[in-house]
Order: sequence, then structure tokens, then C-alpha cells
Amino acid sequence: MTNLPIFKLEEFWKKYEFSSPYLLCPSDAESWLLNDILSMADAESKSLWDHLSLGYTESPGLPLLRQEIAQLYNTLTADDIFTTAGAEEGIYCAMQSLISSGDHVIVVSPTYQSLETLPQILGADITFIQLQAAKGWKLSCEEIQSAWRPSTKLLTVVCPHNPTGILLEANVYEKMISLARTTGAHIFCDEVYRFLEIDESKRLPAIADAYEKGISLNVMTKSFGLSGLRIGWLASKDHDLLQKANSYKMYTSICNSAPSEILALIALRSKERILGRNREIVLKNVSILDEFVKRHPTSIRWVRPEGGTVAFLELLLPISIDDFTVQLVQETGVLIMPASVFDFSGNFFRIGMGRKNMPDILNRFEQFLVTYENLFKN
Ligand SMILES: Cc1ncc(COP(=O)(O)O)c(C=O)c1O
Repeated sequence: MTNLPIFKLEEFWKKYEFSSPYLLCPSDAESWLLNDILSMADAESKSLWDHLSLGYTESPGLPLLRQEIAQLYNTLTADDIFTTAGAEEGIYCAMQSLISSGDHVIVVSPTYQSLETLPQILGADITFIQLQAAKGWKLSCEEIQSAWRPSTKLLTVVCPHNPTGILLEANVYEKMISLARTTGAHIFCDEVYRFLEIDESKRLPAIADAYEKGISLNVMTKSFGLSGLRIGWLASKDHDLLQKANSYKMYTSICNSAPSEILALIALRSKERILGRNREIVLKNVSILDEFVKRHPTSIRWVRPEGGTVAFLELLLPISIDDFTVQLVQETGVLIMPASVFDFSGNFFRIGMGRKNMPDILNRFEQFLVTYENLFKN
């Protein structure tokens, strides 16, 4: 493979995640303790855990786990699920399977970097659709229509979106599917923040349910708060694609971690409790952020997120967000994520809303912000 470009977001985490005491920008929900998860086990999964042999596991994933994952969809069975090491391996295996050099691919950006880097290094001819704050970060039917070609092979989108937390509109979603159907293209929808929509009535159907060549990506990491399991999956009715993706997994992880599979099974069987707690945290934090934004009309602006665990705010002070981020972390230990990590211009930064300690860290952030507001007033 060609030289891989630096993965800006993951390098940013590598530099700061374990050295900054106050993380204000994580995108995963509050992590669960191992004991919390084990205490949720039903008799069958408890017995699987107690008698677990630490050998290799089935490459596509434990059949019981795949069955449980399929329950998250309306029309899928275990055969439509292929599990991976986190969402990242799912993206890698899917992009390798879907893209050949010269293929026309549409990428909605900003996005999670591998969704644009992998098509690039695989030699795709990419049309980027750039989301804009002035349009509420909303993708429009016109933008999709004008990016689409008869030869388009693939569209990649993230919904709920990272870093903005915005959802696709239902009419745009239908438009994407009807265009893809006419040209036989795949749609890859990164749905890792699904199930934490703020207004649950706005949750769209998973693309794997809605479209026969749709691929839904999901994971235990984000909405479930179990990043350490490294269990993700691709869901699709396109079995040829899932098989190809599995052949790439033979070169990456081969199979999942055996303990993680059982823990993911237990967690999914308790999904109402897990998602319920995480939703409570997000709803509380988003209303705290509402008040925070209102208190700082001259220095902060946002488009209120509609789902997931992240919000994208704009700093209106005359200082670059990159400089501000470095000074903030050096002086206070508080970490925000500047837009440059997403290769996106403008003075935007990401805040995470999925952690219990967000209100406390936001307080520290606010004190720092106020000193800057005063500085620029004088
Ligand atoms: C949109 C999106 N997709 C995929 C991933 C990768 O998830 P994982 O850490 O589970 O591999 C992330 C992580 O930040 C993400 O934000």
C-alpha cells in the first residue's frame, strides 16, 4: 500500500489523551466498568463468560453476538452482520472491498478521516461535498444531485454526524437512496452515534434496512460507551461485500477478542439500560451547553447538535483555534479538539457531551474563555 497519510485525529489523541487531565472533546459515551457489564449478564451469557476458552474465535464473529446485533435492525439476520475490531477495521475492510482505482466516490466532509483517506489512497476519483455552518451543517438534495454521476460507485456519510452532531433530513436520505438505486452505487453510512438522537422521532432507518446496497457501520464504542471492547460491525444485505470485507480481516485482526465478544453480547442484551443511561448524560449535557452558549453570545456560536455525543462550536474571538487550544491545554489541562484535526478551516472546535464530568470541565473551560473575552475587550 502507498504511504498512509498521518491520521490527524488519532495522532491528536495519541499526543493528548493520556496526558491531559480534563478531556472536553471525547466522542465516546461514559465508559462502563467491567463489573457493571458482568452484573447485567443473563444466565446464558454468564455461563459463556464463566466457561470461556481464550482461543481463536470465528472470523465473522460469534454467531450469538451477530444474532444479537441483528436485533438492532428491522430486517436483518445474523447472516447480514460481519464483526470487526472497532469501527475502524470495519471502515478499512469495507473501503478496500468497495473501491478500485478510478472509481467515482462521493464523500461528505468534514468527516472521520479514514472515510476520506482510504478512498484517496485506493485511487478513487473523489467529489467532496463540504458541509457549511451557515446552512446548519445540513446536506441538501441539490448538493447530492450535482455531485452524482452515472458512474458513481459509492457515497459515504456519517449520521449522526461527527463533528457537528447533525442528522440527515429524511428527504435527503431518500434522495441519496434513489440516486444510488438508479446507478447501482453502494451507500456507506457510518452510524456509530446512532441511538443517541436527541429527538428520537428524528432517527432515520439504518441504511442496511433502507437500501439493499447500503452498508451500516456501528460499534460498541460510541453510543454504548464500550470503546475498550473494540467490537464493531458492518451490516448489509450485500453478502458478497461482507465476504470480501472478511477476506481483508484475514490480514488485519483475523478474529475478535474472545472476552470482548461475550461482553458485547451481555451489553447488547441490556441495551435499553446502557443506552438509557448514556442518553440521560447527553440530554443533561446538551442543556448545560445551551446555557453556556447563551452566556457567551459574542465569543461562541453553534448549531445545536441533533444527536450523538459531539457538538461543533465556533470561537468568535480574534485568535486562531489552534493557538487557543494549545494555550488552553497548557494552562488549564482542558482539551478541546480544533477543526484542523478534521482538515477543516474556520475557528471551530469539537466538544464531547457523553461524559459525566463534562459540566465540571466546561466550568474550567469557561473560566479560561472569560479571561480571553476580557483580554479582547480591553
Ligand atoms: C464517525 C466515526 N467513525 C468511526 C470511528 C472509529 O471508531 P472506533 O474507535 O470504534 O474504531 C470514530 C471514532 O472517533 C468516529 O467518530
